[in-house]
Amino acid sequence: MKIGIFDSGIGGLTVLHQAMITLPQEEYLYYADTDHVPYGIRPKEEILEFVDNALRFMLGKGVKAVIIACNTATSAAIKTLRSRYSLPILGMEPAVKPAVAREEEGKRVMVAATPLTLREEKLRNLLHQVDKHHTVDLLPLPELVRFAEREEFTSQAVENYLRGELAPFHLEDYSALVLGCTHFNYFKDTFSRLFPSSTELIDGSCGTVNHLKDILKTQNLLEENTGCVEYYFSGRKAESREQLAYFERLHNRLEEMLRF
Ligand code: DGL
Repeated sequence: MKIGIFDSGIGGLTVLHQAMITLPQEEYLYYADTDHVPYGIRPKEEILEFVDNALRFMLGKGVKAVIIACNTATSAAIKTLRSRYSLPILGMEPAVKPAVAREEEGKRVMVAATPLTLREEKLRNLLHQVDKHHTVDLLPLPELVRFAEREEFTSQAVENYLRGELAPFHLEDYSALVLGCTHFNYFKDTFSRLFPSSTELIDGSCGTVNHLKDILKTQNLLEENTGCVEYYFSGRKAESREQLAYFERLHNRLEEMLRF
């Protein structure tokens, strides 16, 4: 049986990429809701409906577990989805906990995510628990999702956008930048150039995949298959050579980003 990995677009490939490293013999179904991306600027109710449709589609394909590889969709929908379906559903949340735990004297942590993730209760509750010394700053970067969906990762426009959004902050103050949106992993090279070398880039892919592995193990769901992946754009299977080459290019980009 397959593992379903869902995102509004290409961001969740960062989680799939990691899953294929950690669990190379599993089979995967990757669902990108490209008809509705970006999610981060939409109302919560609309996102819940989109994710619920995608989940029902994946269930129809017989998935044994699902990762909502999207911080935005997790904030908007995971509680409701878990109450509706009985299979394991894992989500993503900005990795604030490890970032704050590493806190250095006098240093701050920046959490970059979509506007929805930053305003939702899920993150507010998390900050309430872990940001005891009020050292966390929040930065919405919605345009980065659009750049990523256009495969525009290293243009001058990306650099100008990020420089503009980061201009109000004194970057030397930050010990960590939390990438709280899976799309942001495609820009690790630019982030690491703009921040001082001492600022650590933290994302939640590894943590989520390790959690998945534990759950599959506990529930006796681990399998040894061929390790293949099926890709879908909002329910339509990616089959042409061009479409498969597109995913291969994105995996190559993510492989490069593992260095940062
Ligand atoms: N990849 C998604 C996340 O992790 C959000 C992208 C979007 O706005 O659609 O938050």
